[in-house]
Amino acid sequence: MRVLVVGGAGFVGSSLSLSLHELEAGLVLVTDNFSRKGCDRNLTRLASAKIDVFHSDVRCPNDLKGLPRCDWIIDAAANPSVLAGVGNGSSLGVIESNLVGTMHLLELAKHWGAGFILLSTSRVYSMSALRDIPIHRVGARFVPVAAGVFPEGASMLGIGEDFSTSPPLSLYGSTKRASELLATEYAYAYRMPVWINRCGVMAGAGQMGGPQQGIISYWIHAVREKKHLRFTGYGGYGLQVRDIFHPADMVEALLMQMQKPPLIGTAPVTVFGGGATNSVSLQELHQWCEERWGSHPVEQIEEAHIMDIPWMVMNTHTADERFGWRVKRNKEDIFEEIAEFADGNENWLSKVL
Ligand SMILES: NC(=O)c1ccc[n+]([C@@H]2O[C@H](COP(=O)([O-])OP(=O)(O)OC[C@H]3O[C@@H](n4cnc5c(N)ncnc54)[C@H](O)[C@@H]3O)[C@@H](O)[C@H]2O)c1
Repeated sequence: MRVLVVGGAGFVGSSLSLSLHELEAGLVLVTDNFSRKGCDRNLTRLASAKIDVFHSDVRCPNDLKGLPRCDWIIDAAANPSVLAGVGNGSSLGVIESNLVGTMHLLELAKHWGAGFILLSTSRVYSMSALRDIPIHRVGARFVPVAAGVFPEGASMLGIGEDFSTSPPLSLYGSTKRASELLATEYAYAYRMPVWINRCGVMAGAGQMGGPQQGIISYWIHAVREKKHLRFTGYGGYGLQVRDIFHPADMVEALLMQMQKPPLIGTAPVTVFGGGATNSVSLQELHQWCEERWGSHPVEQIEEAHIMDIPWMVMNTHTADERFGWRVKRNKEDIFEEIAEFADGNENWLSKVL
């Protein structure tokens, strides 16, 4: 079996490629257009592992034609920011890389007779339905109200596959949701094996994190480098909660997916995430950083950004049922991994932002 990881020079793609390669040398090939600032570090690591890397841009079918045929494609190429294309950003650029790019990769998989795994996102969920989840403040975080009335697909344990995907989702979220729909159609029309992995927040060392995407990595580096930071929204206390997991924890499930493809004609959606036990608020993360590097003030901005959500935690019971999936690295392991990397990589933020 041979697997093409597209976007393999990125944070998630390189982590998956290196972990798959550790399990079986020669299993993985990587392609990327190298557009993400900071991805040169990943290219060095891929080269050291002797993984073949090819330049291609998913927006250009002619680039993709030249790639060696593989049995599976893992689509990890995207502009992954929820603020991508917002304000002065290029909306067309996001749609081309995230949606048109996936369409070209589906065509390639069809042409090759290959299977397809789409790395989708928890950002395909309805922002208004997410905001309808009843929450209140407990200590340094928001938590759901146990006796509250939850929208369909949500519970104290988090958001499951059946939660609403009604727009608005963000431009990023809608390109990924549209990619999910397209991948499902290809599975049905062309009898292609397709899995859709709907991932919550991933974090780990070397992530090219910024305030809009890769917040865990960004925050840890920024506190260490004494950068100006803001708690934005919901009063400005940093109570917003996300669950996190390390991309390398997904590798065994990916192998299972490739070894045992889904029922022909279907494209099952599986939510991956850190789950309630691996969730953290920004204020809690900040406290962890201050314990390590000393006190660091944070500006408080009361008003929330239109794309922010106060509580978003993934319910991973389907991943557990299907693949026996559990996170291996808990949140403190992930913070520690990023902090050690930050200690050894002075001024990382100026290299990647
Ligand atoms: N990081 C997360 O928390 C997270 C959560 C859920 C889903 N995802 C998904 O995982 C995937 C990878 O995200 P990431 O965090 O590693 O982002 P990343 O920016 O680190 O990696 C994306 C890679 O795609 C490449 N790329 C972008 N446009 C391209 C194009 N037109 N042609 C070829 N390559 C292109 C970039 O150069 C980069 O190396 C994305 O599909 C994202 O939607 C990420």
